[in-house]
Amino acid sequence: MTYWDVYYTVTSVDEAARLLAEHAGQARIIAGGTDLVVELRKGARQLAAVIDISRVGGWDYIERRMDGLIHVGPAVSHTQAAASPLLQEHALPLAQACWGVGAPALRNRGTIAGNLATASPANDTITALRALEAQVTLRSVRGARTLPLAEFYQGVRRTAMQPDELLVDIAFAPLAEDEVGVYLKLGLRKVLAIAVTNVAVVLRRPQGQIAEARIALGSVAPTIIRAPAAEEALCEQRLTPESIEAAAQLAAEAATPIDDVRGSAWFRNEEVAALVRRGLQAVQRGEERLGLPQPAEMVKLWGKSELAGGQCWPTLSGPTIVHHAGGDEPIQCTVNGKNVSVQGANDKTLLHLLREELGLTGTKVGCEEGECGACTVWLDGVAVLACLTPAPRAHGASIVTVEGLAQGEQLHPVQAAFIAEDAVQCGYCTPGFVMSAANLLAEMPHPTREQISAALSGNLCRCTGYYKIIQAVERAAGDVMG
Ligand SMILES: Cc1cc2nc3c(=O)[nH]c(=O)nc-3n(C[C@H](O)[C@H](O)[C@H](O)COP(=O)(O)OP(=O)(O)OC[C@H]3O[C@@H](n4cnc5c(N)ncnc54)[C@H](O)[C@@H]3O)c2cc1C
Ligand code: FES
Ligand code: FES
Repeated sequence: MTYWDVYYTVTSVDEAARLLAEHAGQARIIAGGTDLVVELRKGARQLAAVIDISRVGGWDYIERRMDGLIHVGPAVSHTQAAASPLLQEHALPLAQACWGVGAPALRNRGTIAGNLATASPANDTITALRALEAQVTLRSVRGARTLPLAEFYQGVRRTAMQPDELLVDIAFAPLAEDEVGVYLKLGLRKVLAIAVTNVAVVLRRPQGQIAEARIALGSVAPTIIRAPAAEEALCEQRLTPESIEAAAQLAAEAATPIDDVRGSAWFRNEEVAALVRRGLQAVQRGEERLGLPQPAEMVKLWGKSELAGGQCWPTLSGPTIVHHAGGDEPIQCTVNGKNVSVQGANDKTLLHLLREELGLTGTKVGCEEGECGACTVWLDGVAVLACLTPAPRAHGASIVTVEGLAQGEQLHPVQAAFIAEDAVQCGYCTPGFVMSAANLLAEMPHPTREQISAALSGNLCRCTGYYKIIQAVERAAGDVMG
């Protein structure tokens, strides 16, 4: 299936803006691709051009600037954000929202900017950023403009961003000493679940009495909304069972949800009240951080490169690279330590490049929608889903597939442990599990059972052999690390 005519990998914002202008509404930006590739696949729509901004140098910043605001760059992934000490300390709802997105390999590529631009009312980071009163900066060849998120959203999946604009910055004030925030999400399961409802709460409480309250609600209206009556009711109050209950009920009244496959309108209304109640109770008890691991305890599946302080989004130096669908420009990369040059894969995903062009069929075709993890490979040391990664993104990168894990005849300890523990039934999911598990052990030599489950949470086994799989990873950790 062909998704685009031309794939540009740009190295500057000017280049991205110029290309968007040149292609006048026929081009789209791609960052992680976790939304766009799924959309193109489902819609069978072909774009004239896709502009990859994931390698613009320095666009993965999360920093506090002279203007007093925290700024987040357009290439910042959910993993990076969740693990950021700055965000964990001064923008907890955003770190929590990012930690709740999808599963590890999806978080490694999906960006906050992409989440904002997709503009689904169920998206996690929008709710958190609405409560943080964030603003976004848009750039085009015509110049730059900054909009509060409240003005950025215009309807279901509709924003004020024009076809020639791209989002170049997200900024918001850090939570002050007397402010506290929390984010809660209800999904149909713990991971890989779009929100049935989500809620973010920020309170300013000098001396314990609430001076300002911000409550944002997701998945209950065409856009993410605030709950002004609930916010007002909390002002000049302390958190008591009565004030919490009143705010929870008023928040539910602000919601105008619809029935859909994830839940009925009635259920969503009930859940808004429940989540607001739980959020305020957590703040009252000082428990708003529960459930979010410290950065060092997080399972990121970033591999050794991140542990060594390496870049997680390697930047291409030099000029913009252009790959034409059906064109002769080769994708040059390293696969399992060997230099390869592949022609004719410019319009494919990495999954099909590996399988069809290189014959590496260990990487499995499962859902091709990011849901099963069967296609997990390492891209520059980071676990990613090959089905959502455009093949041209591999240009200049180092890829490791399941075929590259063994050293000659010597199986990787995770492979050996899968055999020893009989952790394989039909085996279809096994390469994906092995790649995730091996990356976990590279990052975290002595994972707890909880960390193993978190690392493997994006990998599904239809034969449901989870106990054996977890035992195998525990065995491998013992075998390798002693
Ligand atoms: C299996 C699965 C599970 C998921 N789970 C969740 C979840 O739990 N919660 C959730 O909120 N989302 C979830 N998502 C959706 C998705 O992963 C996120 O929305 C992600 O943040 C998108 O970021 P991206 O970088 O991959 O965006 P892309 O796919 O690269 O782009 C998405 C859209 O944003 C545009 N875009 C991207 N960056 C810019 C920019 N800088 N300027 C202008 N336009 C831009 C693109 O043109 C495209 O329209 C899930 C997706 C999948 C496939
Ligand atoms: S996640 Fe890629 S094939 Fe299922
Ligand atoms: S072993 Fe069959 S799908 Fe997992």
